[in-house]
Amino acid sequence: MNLNIDQARVARELEELAAISQVPPPAVTRILFTDADLRGRAYVKGLCREAGLEIREDPVGNIFARWQGADRSLPAVCTGSHIDAIPNAGKFDGTVGVLGGLEALRALARAGFRPPRSIELIIFTAEEPTRFGIGCLGSRLMGGALTSSADEDLKDNDGRSLQQIRVEAGYTGSLETVRLPCNYCRAFVELHIEQGPILERDQIDVGIVTAIAPPAGLRLWIEGEGGHAGAVLMPQRRDAFLGAAEIALSLEKAARESGAIDTVATTGVCEVFPGAINSIPSRVRMEVDVRDIGPGRRDEVLRKLHVAIVEVSSRRGLTVRKEIINQDSPAQSGPLALAALEKACLVQGATFARMISRAYHDALFISLLAPSAMLFIPCRSGISHHPDEYASDEHISAGIAVLAETLADLAVAADYGTPSDLPPAIRTQTVR
Ligand code: GLV
Ligand code: MN
Ligand code: MN
Repeated sequence: MNLNIDQARVARELEELAAISQVPPPAVTRILFTDADLRGRAYVKGLCREAGLEIREDPVGNIFARWQGADRSLPAVCTGSHIDAIPNAGKFDGTVGVLGGLEALRALARAGFRPPRSIELIIFTAEEPTRFGIGCLGSRLMGGALTSSADEDLKDNDGRSLQQIRVEAGYTGSLETVRLPCNYCRAFVELHIEQGPILERDQIDVGIVTAIAPPAGLRLWIEGEGGHAGAVLMPQRRDAFLGAAEIALSLEKAARESGAIDTVATTGVCEVFPGAINSIPSRVRMEVDVRDIGPGRRDEVLRKLHVAIVEVSSRRGLTVRKEIINQDSPAQSGPLALAALEKACLVQGATFARMISRAYHDALFISLLAPSAMLFIPCRSGISHHPDEYASDEHISAGIAVLAETLADLAVAADYGTPSDLPPAIRTQTVR
């Protein structure tokens, strides 16, 4: 299809959304249901309304903006991503999939396309784990990977429950209703920056994601004994922070010795109580993130972490409580979505490579409902979760064109074969 992507408009909208932040530019922070997040949501909903889309929101705040198809009874073709941003993030993570998804719909409408099936843009609630410690909150609930008990179980750092916070933000109703039926969505395709260096390095226009690495998250509460930093002598101490430090180093060691470059482990949260220079740490809250492209090696790291916890806590006289936040399964992309993406690359003249996503995304959980896949665009030096995150207007525009072509193809009634049924790609390879 001959598509005219309004690159300047998307760039302006990305800037306008980035300006809605809890911190000054160039950093962006938009934490779930803060004032900035609510204003960001209002901004995006305004654009969707302007584009003539029908909007609904569910009790956890997932936003659905629908372009009604000729046959409303058919499962919709869905796209989308998130607008929440971790502390000190950049402008493009998630937002490219939301504002780019919207521009894909506008471009299709401008080209005179009228969808036989509905096409829906979804803005997922809290892909980032910042507020409640768990990523992909909205899509997890949609896919049934999290139940409605999350309403009471999930608490933010101030001890306030998801239920309290969402109701205050205006999202009422039972979380039971967030789960979507299996026939809701025919296929899901998420546009996102790569958050890695491969596409830029190899000068490939887009990445087609064949699988998403499964994340695991753990919270540890380490309890020792506080005391005066001058008065308590070293042999008598039960310092919770030193135990935490040893556990974090053991985690690093376990990941490094996995034998695979794909194993990664991060201790990203370490909160020390009472947090005074002249007081021995009595308690630590620590959060760790472990990933691999397959769950086997990842779980071996978790096992070694457990052994280290037992050893360190008994040697140092500490108690450690371990809470598994999530231990997810990998997602394989659906052949229907992959075939449509590859075909769209050929039609739009985009070079592509098949790749694995090491970051997680809402597509991980939507794949529980429908054939899903992701479309990556290059980002400078692979930098992400950082104010220096950057994707060029040209790359964004090329990604939107492929996305639009894919959505249009999926919105027609016929089914496709598998990718191998397609003619050879302009350039296709699997990269690591
Ligand atoms: C998502 O932001 C991730 O941490 O992979
Ligand atoms: Mn992110
Ligand atoms: Mn993201």
